[in-house]
Amino acid sequence: MKVISDADVKGKKVIVRVDFNVPRKDGKIVDDTRIVGSLKTINYLVEHQAKVILLSHLGRVESEEDKKKNSLMEVGKHLTTLVTCPVYFVAQTRGELLETTINNLQNGEILLVENTRFEDFPSKLESSCDEALSKYWATLGDIFVLDAFGSAHRCHASTYGISKYLPSYAGFLVKEETDVLDKAIDQDKTLILGGAKVSDKIGVIDNLIDNTKRVLLAGAMCFTFLRVKGFNVGKSPVSEENIDYVQNLINNYGDKMVLPVDIVTQNGIKNIRDMDDDDIGYDIGPDTIERFKDALDDSTLVLWNGPLGKYEEKAYENGTKEILKYLEGQPFPTILAGGDITGASKYFDTKVYYVSTGGGSTLEYLEGKKFKTLSRLNG
Ligand code: 3PG
Repeated sequence: MKVISDADVKGKKVIVRVDFNVPRKDGKIVDDTRIVGSLKTINYLVEHQAKVILLSHLGRVESEEDKKKNSLMEVGKHLTTLVTCPVYFVAQTRGELLETTINNLQNGEILLVENTRFEDFPSKLESSCDEALSKYWATLGDIFVLDAFGSAHRCHASTYGISKYLPSYAGFLVKEETDVLDKAIDQDKTLILGGAKVSDKIGVIDNLIDNTKRVLLAGAMCFTFLRVKGFNVGKSPVSEENIDYVQNLINNYGDKMVLPVDIVTQNGIKNIRDMDDDDIGYDIGPDTIERFKDALDDSTLVLWNGPLGKYEEKAYENGTKEILKYLEGQPFPTILAGGDITGASKYFDTKVYYVSTGGGSTLEYLEGKKFKTLSRLNG
């Protein structure tokens, strides 16, 4: 993979596609992890005297109303607090003001362009990777850098189209994410899978199971496994459409699977053999937490996707919280993959070896999908 440090960037206009699609509440940024994640690339370019042009999307834009809600202006203001050089913001995705501002940009300065998805209304030009838009954006710079790992699975004008017309490189975040996830795919590991649906995990399980020593299963998805094993799971969610898949998995890989032995329900903690017909499971119980810790003990690498319970509610937070805290203190690395478990880690303020900035992109990467956006950075 060609990385931006391989290029001569001094005095060049470098277009960097970042993923500043950050969570917000009442218009304010509530988690700037993704912005911080791209600082290494941005600071490198500033220090090496490039003219830095940042492109990002923010939310989805299907109406004029969406444009009002999804301007990158607040993100631009926040960026000024994280870097030491001037940051300009242009509320346009094309046009004279944008072009003039770029032409006046000095070495070591940053320009943030308005939300690339403003080009999605009224016509879906960004998301359809419109050729004319890709070409136009490419005319604004000399070099293209992809640092938006969170959007690397999207073949859009700003993530892929531009790279057809400019020398293209990976940013440091994209390089780091792909290196870490490649390691997680290839190495022998313990997999922790939680979250809502079995169907969301099938691709990941199929791609990773052979290099996995053990799979710890929890979250709402574990009830389908428990049902197949013959337990009464009460009114807990079961994916009927995935019963055959799960049965097959248990037949072939049952010895790798570690399932809950007790569950926190709305009626208290229940041994999995004692669940009643109206019980709904929301978290793993204390015996399962200990069982999971034992199963993790001899790991060399842990890869975790999906929370173990409804952790946002105090009564059901223990499983996710306790296992995160346990992993925090271990000598082996833990990689958190996917928006929900990385959100939980932030919520409980835990620090592990690596927290991926991707959501859907991380899952698709772990499923073994090849991203066209990355293929452009290889030649
Ligand atoms: C994400 O948050 O997963 C990425 O920024 C991609 O966003 P999207 O799903 O709207 O393309």
